[in-house]
Amino acid sequence: MVKKFSTPRGTNDIYPPQALLWQELETQARRVFVRYGYNEIRTPIFEESELFVRSVGQTSDIVQKQMLHLSPQGATRAQGGAGLQLSLRPEGTAPIVRAYIQDNMDKKEQLSKLFYIGAMFRGERPQKGRLRQFHQIGVEAIGPDSCSPYLDAEVIGLCLEFLKNIQVPMYQLKLNTLGTVEDKQNLSKKLRQQLKPFKSELCPDCQNRFDRNVFRILDCKQKACRQIVAKLKLDYTHLCEASREYYRKVKECLDSLNIRFEEDPGMVRGLDYYTQTVFEVCSPALGSQDALGAGGRYDNLVAQLGGPQADAVGFALGLERILLAREEPQTPSGQSLDVFLVSLDEPSLAGNFKLAQTLRQQDIVVDMSFKPASVKSQMRTANKKKARFVVIVGQEEQRQGIVTLKDMQGGHQQQIAVDHCEQAIKRILNK
Ligand code: HAM
Repeated sequence: MVKKFSTPRGTNDIYPPQALLWQELETQARRVFVRYGYNEIRTPIFEESELFVRSVGQTSDIVQKQMLHLSPQGATRAQGGAGLQLSLRPEGTAPIVRAYIQDNMDKKEQLSKLFYIGAMFRGERPQKGRLRQFHQIGVEAIGPDSCSPYLDAEVIGLCLEFLKNIQVPMYQLKLNTLGTVEDKQNLSKKLRQQLKPFKSELCPDCQNRFDRNVFRILDCKQKACRQIVAKLKLDYTHLCEASREYYRKVKECLDSLNIRFEEDPGMVRGLDYYTQTVFEVCSPALGSQDALGAGGRYDNLVAQLGGPQADAVGFALGLERILLAREEPQTPSGQSLDVFLVSLDEPSLAGNFKLAQTLRQQDIVVDMSFKPASVKSQMRTANKKKARFVVIVGQEEQRQGIVTLKDMQGGHQQQIAVDHCEQAIKRILNK
């Protein structure tokens, strides 16, 4: 038995009809993002592992459990012998910040508005809406002294505008603020105080998290931990006055755009780089993995990765989750065919082969069969491919230097000189 291969666990093939849906989302994303002044950036799908450790956070689930490392041998070769540990990117923000610093973008423009579309990789246990290779559409707005509640609200507005454009039916915006680094430390202290009496009842992971990164306890899916977390008193008393005012202003800006949101003081996000505003967009259609996308402000990350002082805010949406959340989207019927060439024998095939090239150079969409066969079977193929016209060439047509041109919509059929064929088809197709 010869072994057959299939996709690795947690990855998907995207077959042609689905790929059209993906293209549609990507086209819409480009259209909407450009309206807000964002330009596309593409970065490698792997980076130094340390980039993610220092940004997403040593104690985050992503770094602790989900990074897909390249083998040391691969790393050695890819780095020309340096032997650095490389990983497939689990998210897009850290690579964009790395690129921002590497390209000295702060010297080139006040605010760099960047968007990206691409595959991300996390070694998670696959389930509905949770994959090992998934795709994000994201934006990052980075610039020195660019921290502004207006920008936060613009980024959130952009995220929702895109979802509206692609007809995601129902979603809910959850909003929170973490405040400054000092505010976050205050929050950690408060959480530890409240959780301490229940520490022994937490799952072993969370007992570990208690000292290392108490925020992660709020995201734990274990029933016992969730019950304890549900009893916590979470409010905004850990925030300094300036953070409170900033958050108030963000909400005011959202109100001015008529954007509805629900405040969730327990939403701390699983990545360490956030400060101030954080948000998630959730869809009830998604089940337990209900976040369509998420983002927030990360004003310290650029400097933390060795760059200049630069503030930043962004979000990423999961493409697979968007597709799951859209109500029965109509599968696009695909690229329709202008002409299908039917060849009844070898010499006609050779002639049609050249004709196909000529027509395609005139922007006409052409397909053909590559073996002579009966008219019936080739017409069946032409029908299946929804061809607008069929050109039939057999021995007799070859001898007379003509082709039979059949209009598949009206059924009308005519014989024309092969030399006029190209002009005739262009005229009828208005090309
Ligand atoms: P995140 O919350 O880790 O944030 O991921 C953003 C979105 O990516 C999620 O809401 C979800 O739709 C999708 N996603 C994440 N993991 C998976 C998975 N295993 N399978 C399928 N979809 C998944 C970030 O990645 C941040 N970089 C967002 C950001 C940008 N913050 C600021 N700028």
